Amino acid sequence: MTKVAGIIGLPVAHSLSPIFQGAAFRHCGLDVRYEAWETPAEALAGRVVSLRDPRYLGANVTIPYKQAVIPLLDELGGQSARVGAVNTIVNRQGRLFGFNTDGPGFVASLRREAHFDPAGAAVLLLGAGGAARGIAFALVEAHVRSLSIANRTPNRATSLAAGVASNGVSVRAVAGGESLDRYDLIVNCTSAGMHGGGGEADVPCDLSTASPGALVADIVYVPEETPLLHAARAIGLKTLPGLPMLIYQGALAFELWTGASAPVEVMFDAAREALAQRAATFSGEGAR
Ligand code: ATR
Repeated sequence: MTKVAGIIGLPVAHSLSPIFQGAAFRHCGLDVRYEAWETPAEALAGRVVSLRDPRYLGANVTIPYKQAVIPLLDELGGQSARVGAVNTIVNRQGRLFGFNTDGPGFVASLRREAHFDPAGAAVLLLGAGGAARGIAFALVEAHVRSLSIANRTPNRATSLAAGVASNGVSVRAVAGGESLDRYDLIVNCTSAGMHGGGGEADVPCDLSTASPGALVADIVYVPEETPLLHAARAIGLKTLPGLPMLIYQGALAFELWTGASAPVEVMFDAAREALAQRAATFSGEGAR
């Protein structure tokens, strides 16, 4: 029996997940079809209930439903309950388990693509929205030494810092504009620069005081070189773009559904090929 998985969201037409997940299932010789399920709000509950059928491995969940699916599930695994968002649903004998692989996917991309070990690192997180929240929990779980959170709206940074506070890790909200020389890693989780602009408003912090050894990461994957990464590279800092996080969150979901090790290089190749084709026919929209 062909098994089925898919991505639930609105819209999902632009999602790369069907492309790189499909490539991964084919590469591993698994008889699984991965579909794009564009789901209006009134169809969400029915879509999630349908995943209990033995044909379904589960689903990915994207904007705007990462919170809304939670009450429809039976159990929450990993950090998803604390993060308050689910991006992966796994059907285990008709019971639905929710996970969040976004933050762990980011941490995997740090380790495996940037060869950066977050344990003991001093980190500056830019942004305090949903994406920042998942990454903040994963960085604390990965034993960073300190996590400083800066956001355009400061009280959102303060409440995120309070939410992720953990024994042994110094977590605090900071004002923009302070010197960046203490940080080993600077992560942009704001949507500034998503549309590829290069103006000052598109670069969410001034990197001129950053330590020469710092790594600058952006979770936006279109454009590949965001205004922040461009600025970082221009002054010789190491950079990590957003595509690896997308691939590793998908790889972790693949592993939860199948128990098999994900063919990460195959997934990268499929995603890069699709992005190159899109860039050849269309430009302008950013994506994360
Ligand atoms: P997501 O779930 O993708 O993180 P979000 O919850 O809307 O999306 O959060 C977007 C983040 O980008 C927020 O931290 C937002 O800052 P505010 O909390 O002040 O709104 C930040 N952001 C968006 N545009 C920005 C810009 N031009 N400059 C700086 N920060 C920006």
